[in-house]
Amino acid sequence: MAVDAAGLPGEASEETAIRRVAVVGAGTIGASWAALFLARGLDVVVTDPAEGAEAFTRRFTAGAWPALEALGAVLPGADPGHLRFEPDLGAALAGAEFVQENGPEREALKTDLFARMDALLPPEVVIASSSSGLLMSRVQSACRHPGRCVIGHPFNPPHLIPLVEVVGGERTDAASVERAMGFYRAVGKHPIRLHKEVPGHVANRLQAALWREAIHLAAEGVASVADIDAAVAQGPGLRWAIFGPHMTFHLGGGGGGMEHFLAHLLGPFEGFWADLGEPRVTPALQRRIVDGVREEAEGLSVEELSARRDRALVALIRALGEGG
Ligand SMILES: NC(=O)c1ccc[n+]([C@@H]2O[C@H](COP(=O)([O-])OP(=O)(O)OC[C@H]3O[C@@H](n4cnc5c(N)ncnc54)[C@H](O)[C@@H]3O)[C@@H](O)[C@H]2O)c1
Repeated sequence: MAVDAAGLPGEASEETAIRRVAVVGAGTIGASWAALFLARGLDVVVTDPAEGAEAFTRRFTAGAWPALEALGAVLPGADPGHLRFEPDLGAALAGAEFVQENGPEREALKTDLFARMDALLPPEVVIASSSSGLLMSRVQSACRHPGRCVIGHPFNPPHLIPLVEVVGGERTDAASVERAMGFYRAVGKHPIRLHKEVPGHVANRLQAALWREAIHLAAEGVASVADIDAAVAQGPGLRWAIFGPHMTFHLGGGGGGMEHFLAHLLGPFEGFWADLGEPRVTPALQRRIVDGVREEAEGLSVEELSARRDRALVALIRALGEGG
């Protein structure tokens, strides 16, 4: 029973034969993947057409290193300085054994990029997209070898958050999904396999469901934006870092477990479900949310808040590993 918070970057549970990884697109997500792959001692080649992308990636990976070290995720001999940057896509893909694509979240762009990568790579090389919500069936549609195309969706920042959602499209081979799952496990991630593709995969749909109600509650003036956030972060969010909603309610059922929880509390939950909102996010409501978050941030910049989040994430992941 996989109820632990497994997926510590330091706990690779599987070997991988893959040594060379190409990271295509090096913004927020690509640079973070690159840091993790470098820490795992892989040969990492990064490509991105944007001016300044190489400097950004080098800055990011160097900045991410202390957190990776604190997690015990850095293998002996690994060094962020080993990163290679190739502005040319073909040069970056030469010799790659696994590709992690992190370009902008636009279907037409990714479909074209996948077709170009497909034409450049031997057919056995898996091409994984970090896409947060696109369907692989569409992204792979212009490839001659669509069987090797998968979604490998991480969470920001991928060098710290264990979860990766893996799913193929209509024309993806099961073996490619397995290969991607094995690779992610080997670099210390906690991949989950989706049996069918849906927009937003699993975790973003769950986040979307919660966020919709959070916005509805703010719109209805039930509580401030800051207090709605506290209702998650200071409450169930702490438990969700350990167990998901099903296991959490299994415990909520006491000795009777989930069976008792359903008998006792399904009725009230059905009442809540019937009452949940579907807010219309008007410009005025957007303004209220933006103002609410600004107030909640108490003058801290996004960079400062991200640094605080990352420090806490490292401590949390370590604590979960030790307590698991
Ligand atoms: N930001 C998140 O929280 C998050 C989380 C999980 C997954 N994702 C997914 O990761 C992907 C990247 O998102 P991001 O937030 O890093 O975006 P970003 O805008 O920070 O980075 C995108 C990068 O792609 C580069 N790029 C543009 N055209 C390209 C091309 N033709 N080939 C290669 N690179 C190209 C850009 O120069 C940029 O550096 C998206 O698919 C997104 O859905 C994002």
